[in-house]
Parts: sequence; structure tokens; C-alpha cells
Amino acid sequence: MQENNFKLNPKSLKTAVTRVEKDKIVTRGYNQRDLIEKIRFSDMVFLILKGRVPSLKESKIFNYVLVSFCDHGVTPPSTQTARLITSSGSPINSAIAGALLSFGNKHAGAIEKAMELYQSKIDSIHLINDRGIDNKQIASLAIEIYNEYVVKGKKIPGFGHRYHDVDPRADKLMEIAVDNGYLGPHIKLALALQDLVYSKKHIKLNVDGANAAILSDLGFDPELGTGVFMIGRLPGLIAHSYEERMDEDEFRRFCDLDDVEYMG
Ligand SMILES: CC(C)(COP(=O)(O)OP(=O)(O)OC[C@H]1O[C@@H](n2cnc3c(N)ncnc32)[C@H](O)[C@@H]1OP(=O)(O)O)[C@@H](O)C(=O)NCCC(=O)NCCS
Repeated sequence: MQENNFKLNPKSLKTAVTRVEKDKIVTRGYNQRDLIEKIRFSDMVFLILKGRVPSLKESKIFNYVLVSFCDHGVTPPSTQTARLITSSGSPINSAIAGALLSFGNKHAGAIEKAMELYQSKIDSIHLINDRGIDNKQIASLAIEIYNEYVVKGKKIPGFGHRYHDVDPRADKLMEIAVDNGYLGPHIKLALALQDLVYSKKHIKLNVDGANAAILSDLGFDPELGTGVFMIGRLPGLIAHSYEERMDEDEFRRFCDLDDVEYMG
């Protein structure tokens, strides 16, 4: 009798993502035979995550988001982790798993926090007023965030960068948004906040902050923010792991004994 409790009930696996039948695979309602021929990869990512094909405008901007995450050289903790693990002779899946585990509040994790922040502020206005949000309301939300974070000595997720005064990716994404009129309420809020923070602290949006605003305007749940970051960054991590394996000595030294200060 005890054994029955551990039997897997086939109906307990529910999914709206993909239906697999004999000789047929249907993802989000589309036959994969058709998708292979007809859809671009970034649109496929949008479809599988959101359950619908993006509009032309959404398709363009979502592609910008994915491209902007592609790589940041050897500087991020995740890339260094991928190289370190590869160097030890471990397979690529271990290197990439380790790299992804190094995502945290400061690296990659800021995107979900920034999405939560923008969305909670915009939602609070929508709850009061169903007719949309005007620029005065956006400006007062930006001041609210400034007071909740900067005035209290807290860092706003999605702002600042260890290496850049102006993160070129965030700058370009916001330039595209302004030039093409992709100005939903979350992007408007991010830009108003940037104006305010820059005037006081000389700090601007980083790639996480800019993409948090864009993804929020595209209707993404914050829970998907890091996932989108991972999809964009994975090619870069794989390229670094591959380069490490091909071009560097196995088990190379990542620091010299002289680089270490012994405190004991
Ligand atoms: C990314 C980060 C760690 C870089 O930090 P850093 O270059 O070491 O910057 P510092 O911590 O030395 O900060 C320098 C000044 O800018 C301020 N500052 C930095 N990031 C800030 C932020 N996000 N919000 C408000 N103020 C910020 C600091 O308070 C400090 O001010 P002070 O000189 O008056 O004390 C930092 O900006 C941060 O924590 N940002 C939020 C997390 C994030 O978005 N991460 C994704 C990075 S792509």
C-alpha cells in the first residue's frame, strides 16, 4: 500500500507550454514544424514565455533587450565563475551552472527588484485612476522612489555601475525608446527617476534598470526578469567558457601568491 503513494499520477503534470503527441509538438498553440520555418529566435522566446506572438513593435524592442544582455567581458562574477570552473577541467554544463549560481542582488538580480519597484509604483496610480498616468504623476512617483531610497542611503536597483559612469547599453536602449516613442509608463518612470538621480548623485540607469522598465512595459512579470537576463547572457557565458578551454592553460593561476594578504 505504501508504494502507491509514490506512484506518479500522469495527470498531475499540467502544462500550458507544449503539447507533445506522437509525431507532433505544439508549443503555445503553434506546431513546431511551422515555428522552425517562420519565427525568429527572439520572438520564439517571447512566445514561450508570454504565451503569445509579439506585435512588430514588441518584437523589435524585445530583441534589443536580449542583445543588450549578451556579454560584459570578463568583469562580471558569472563570467569569472564560468572561466574558473572551465579551467579546472569541468564540463561546460558545470561551468554554466556555476556562472548562473553567481547571479545575486548586485549582479543580474537587480532586474527583478527594479521591475517590482516600477510596477508597484505604476500599479498604485492605476488603482486610484483608471484613465492613465500623466507626467505630473510620473514625476511625483520618481520623487517618492528617490526619498525611499537615496535619501535613506539605500541603493536603487538598476542604477549605478562598477565600471561605467554611463552604461552604454542602458543609454542606447533609452535612446531607442525615446526616438521610437516606446514610452510606456514604466519607461517614463525610469527616465524621470534617472533625471532626478543624475541631477543629485551623477548616477544613471544600468542595463538591468533600463531593461526592467522595458520588460515592465512589455507586460512581463518580475518573476521572469532574471530568466530573460539568463537567456540573453547565456551565449556570452558559453563563448567565455569555450575560449577558456581552447586558449588558456588548464588549471591556470587566477591570482599569484603575492596578490594575497595573509591576515592570520
Ligand atoms: C552596481 C553597484 C554595486 C556599483 O557600485 P559602485 O560603483 O561600487 O558604487 P559605490 O557603491 O561606490 O557608490 C558610489 C556612490 O554612488 C551611490 N550609488 C551607487 N549606486 C547607487 C544606486 N543604485 N542608487 C543610489 N545611489 C547609488 C553610492 O551611494 C555612492 O554615493 P556616495 O559617494 O554619496 O556615498 C551599485 O551601483 C549598486 O549596488 N547598484 C544597484 C544594484 C544594481 O543595479 N546592480 C546591477 C549592476 S549592472
